[in-house]
Amino acid sequence: MKKKIIGSVIILLLLVLGYSSYEWIYNNGADGEPELVNGEESIEELYNDDFSDKNITEYDLTAEEVEWSLEKGESVNAWTFNGTVPGEPLRVTEGDVLKVNLKNNLDVPVTIHWHGVILPNVMDGVPDLTQEAVQPGETFTYQFEAKDPGTYWYHSHEHSSLQVDKGLYGSLVVEERDQKNDYNNEQILILDEWATDGDRESLTNMPGTMMGAMSGDGEADTKEMYDTYTVNGKSGNSIEPIIIGESEKTRIRIINAGYQVQKLNFPKGSVKVIAYDAADTIDSNNEANIIEVAPGERVDLEVRNNQSEPWLISNLTSINKGVNANIPVITDKDVDYANLEPNQADEGKVIDGATIGNQDLIFEDTPDEVDVSYEMDLSMGMQMGEGMTFQINDNEYPNTPPIKVEDGDIVKVEIKNNGRLNHPMHLHGHRFQVVSKNGRKFEEPMVKDLIHVKPGETFEIYFKADNKGEWLFHCHDNNHADLGMMTIVDYKGVFSPYAK
Ligand code: C2O
Ligand code: CU
Repeated sequence: MKKKIIGSVIILLLLVLGYSSYEWIYNNGADGEPELVNGEESIEELYNDDFSDKNITEYDLTAEEVEWSLEKGESVNAWTFNGTVPGEPLRVTEGDVLKVNLKNNLDVPVTIHWHGVILPNVMDGVPDLTQEAVQPGETFTYQFEAKDPGTYWYHSHEHSSLQVDKGLYGSLVVEERDQKNDYNNEQILILDEWATDGDRESLTNMPGTMMGAMSGDGEADTKEMYDTYTVNGKSGNSIEPIIIGESEKTRIRIINAGYQVQKLNFPKGSVKVIAYDAADTIDSNNEANIIEVAPGERVDLEVRNNQSEPWLISNLTSINKGVNANIPVITDKDVDYANLEPNQADEGKVIDGATIGNQDLIFEDTPDEVDVSYEMDLSMGMQMGEGMTFQINDNEYPNTPPIKVEDGDIVKVEIKNNGRLNHPMHLHGHRFQVVSKNGRKFEEPMVKDLIHVKPGETFEIYFKADNKGEWLFHCHDNNHADLGMMTIVDYKGVFSPYAK
């Protein structure tokens, strides 16, 4: 009897020892192998934080509340990074490391998402997916290599329909190490819209939206919600003029942080697109006077001032109420530019994010074989008690079907807008190649991280699954995203300890 007990104790001990060494190997990584939990690699394991051989550019960003003046006599309660709207502009040189120490002085949690930047998943700033949200009073450090030059932006990704609306965003420019072009000057314009009167929290059930949507206005909901359009946080006469000497040229980096398509009207012959979504565009097809920027999108322009008199970059965005945001262009800071008339003639050639091709493509030719093919149907829905929702494949996030990929896969997504509102669809952590619109192949494809899909339109995009993690793919009208229009690119063999 005694022997039997001793025997079982020994077996038990062996089992425990055996199990814990098994666990030890898997949790600590044997011989440089990744840590596996239940056979999966954590997104934390994919992050290499050894930047000892790199230059580091460091910023402190504090999320804080301020009373922000949009224009004389018109101020709003804003949430900001470092006290201004937009937040402090960030700049880093290609190949250097951007380090940002975030401090949260708000009484709600926040995060920072680096829109358009290809980076490790744990730096992506998505709460409950790539990190825990940063609680009031707490800090978080973001640190990653800025690999690709271009115009980017950053914004909170916590309750983004509210937080981006309230001003938690700013620009991020990754400068080329060897500047190809010399501009006399450079200017960043962040476009946005505000709801200065009325309660934007109760905006999902507006009859006006439904009516507008029925009549075919893809932005009926936005128009119902917002009344004041801003450039760099300022509206009306408080919008800063751009100074471009006569016959000189300037680089203008435009970021649309709002939810309304912006259509900017330039004098003929004064503007050329040089990049969309941080990817350099080619020269063919590149002549227009109206430049469209979708929500979340960025466009870089070369603007030449052919005039000695002041003029306006006129905003053609149609609005129901309130004033539009036009931007004065003057040759010298002392020039008087009061009482300029905007050019509201909506005529001429338009360039949007699916017009001009890019030099550097992901795929020379459209791949004829893909590993994953996903059809993404965008539509509007109704939820009992909640009103309007926004769906991908008839579901609201988190019930939308994920795009399941394996490292190295070639992925095709066909995005179809079956609804009556615009959906600018943005993918985190990857760039994709836009190869066709409404079944027609582009001769010169685009490389982007956001494609604006208007009602009735279908786009085919391709990307390489080459950045392991859990990545969002969502509508960048964040009101739509928060009401369901979101899914995940989910890598096999990878898990997030933060996922809820
Ligand atoms: Cu600017 Cu999830 O995006
Ligand atoms: Cu949308």
